[in-house]
Amino acid sequence: MSKQIHLNAFSMNTIGHQSSGMWRHPRDRSAQYNTAEYWIDIAKILEAGLFDGLFLADVLGVYDVYGGDVSEALRTASQIPVNDPALIVPLMTAATKNLGFGLTATLSYEPPFTFARRISTLDQLTNGRLGWNIVTGYLNSAAKGLGLDNQPKHDTRYEIAGEYMEVVYKLWETSWEEGAVQRDAARGLFSDPSRVHKIRHDGQYFQLDAVHLCEPSPQRTPVLYQAGASTKGRAFAAGHAECVFIAGPSKQVIKPAVADIRACVRAAGRTTGSPLVFTLMTVITGRTDAEAEAKFAEYKRYISHSGALTLMSGWTGIDFSTYALDDKLQQIRNDAIHSAVDAFTVSDPDRVWTIREIAEFAGIGGTGAIIVGGPQRVADELQGWIQDTDIDGFNLAYVVAPETFSDFVEHVVPELQRRGVYKTSYAPGTLREKLFGAGPLLDETHPGGRHRLGRRELAA
Ligand SMILES: Cc1cc2nc3c(=O)[nH]c(=O)nc-3n(C[C@H](O)[C@H](O)[C@H](O)COP(=O)(O)O)c2cc1C
Repeated sequence: MSKQIHLNAFSMNTIGHQSSGMWRHPRDRSAQYNTAEYWIDIAKILEAGLFDGLFLADVLGVYDVYGGDVSEALRTASQIPVNDPALIVPLMTAATKNLGFGLTATLSYEPPFTFARRISTLDQLTNGRLGWNIVTGYLNSAAKGLGLDNQPKHDTRYEIAGEYMEVVYKLWETSWEEGAVQRDAARGLFSDPSRVHKIRHDGQYFQLDAVHLCEPSPQRTPVLYQAGASTKGRAFAAGHAECVFIAGPSKQVIKPAVADIRACVRAAGRTTGSPLVFTLMTVITGRTDAEAEAKFAEYKRYISHSGALTLMSGWTGIDFSTYALDDKLQQIRNDAIHSAVDAFTVSDPDRVWTIREIAEFAGIGGTGAIIVGGPQRVADELQGWIQDTDIDGFNLAYVVAPETFSDFVEHVVPELQRRGVYKTSYAPGTLREKLFGAGPLLDETHPGGRHRLGRRELAA
C-alpha cells in the first residue's frame, strides 16, 4: 500500500494568515474570522475532505519588527487583530465528528498549571480530538505585552520548554490514576483520594505543589505537534514530538531537515514511531491546470508586498524595511525563528534571495512552497514531495478563505483517493488513534507516557 498522505488545513484566528493582502479579494471571507459561522463552515469543508485536522497557528505578540513599529502590520492586517484559537475549537467540535484540532500555544509565558487545565478541558470537550502545537514563540512584543523587557534567548526558550513538558506530563499522566473518578452516588464517592496524587515539582523555571485540576481526558496528553526546526528545535522535537511541522520554500531545504529530524529521533533512543513530519504547502487548484493558473495570476494582483515583508520581518527578526529591494539576504542570528532565516540563506546555498524575490514569494503562502494546477498535476506534485523529501503530509495554507480549502476538497481529494494514497473514511477513536492506529494514550516508551508508570514512586 502506497504511503498514505496526511493532511492538515493550516489557519489562524486572524485575517489573511500566510498570504498578506488577500482579505481584499472579493471571494475572501477571512475578515469574518471573529464569527462562529466562519469557523463552523471551514470545519465542515475540511471534515468533508477527510482532513486529519485543522492546525491553528497563534502568536501572543504583534509584527512590529518591520519599520520598528506595528503600523504596517495594522494597515495590512498581518496577523493582527488575532483572537484566541482555543475558543473556536468547541464551536467546530460541535459541528463535526472526526476532524482533529491542532492548537498552537506557546509555553514561554503561561504557567503549566493553568495551561494543563485548559488542554484537559478541550481534550474532554472534543472527545480526544485535540493536538497541541508546542512553540516557544519568536515575537519580542509578546514578552513586552506580558511585562518582560525581552523574550528569553532562543536556546533558553527550549530549556524552559524541556522543564515545562516535565511538569505538564506529571499533571496529565501522573496526578490522576485510571479509575480515580468513581462517580459512585450510592457511596457518595465522586473521586477516590487515594488515587489522586499531588505533583511536587521544584525546578529551575517552575515550582508546583498541587494535584491536576481535571480528571483524565481521553488522550490525557494531547497529540504533541512541534514547530521549530533549529538545532535546538530538532532536539526538542526528537524528545517529545509525535508530529513535526516544518516550512521551507523548496525540496532542497525540506529534505535534509526531515532526514536530520529522523536522525535526532533515533539518537534520542525513541524506539517506537518516528514523528509524522508535515511541511507547509499552499495548493491553488481548479478543474484544469489552466483554470488554476488563471486563479494564481488573479490572486497575485492582491499580494501586499509590505504585508509579506512585515510577516517575514517578524518570523526572521530582521527589519526588511531597512534593506533595498535588490539586496541579497544573508544569514543573521537573533532570537526569532532560526529555521525561517536559514530557509532563505544557508539551507539552500545555491539559491540566493533578494528582498524583492522574498516579498513576491512570501506574498502567497508565507515561507512554504506552492503548487498550482489541476487535480492530476497537484496529485503528482504532492506525491513527488512525499517521495523526494520523506515527509508524511502537508499543512495546507489558504490564499482565499475558504475557497482554497473547498477547491482542494472538490478537485484534489478524489484524485488522491483514486490513486490509493489518501483515506476514504476516518478511522474510529481519538486523534492519536486516527493518526497512529495505536491506543488513545501516549506510548509508554515516550517520555510523557513513562510518567504514567511513575506514580507509585511519586506517591511514596
Ligand atoms: C513551520 C513553523 C511554524 C511555526 N508556527 C508558530 C506559531 O504559530 N506560533 C509561534 O509562536 N511560533 C511558531 N513557530 C516558531 C516556534 O515558536 C519556535 O519554537 C521558535 O520560533 C524557534 O524556532 P526554531 O527552532 O526554528 O529557531 C513556528 C516555527 C515553524 C518552523
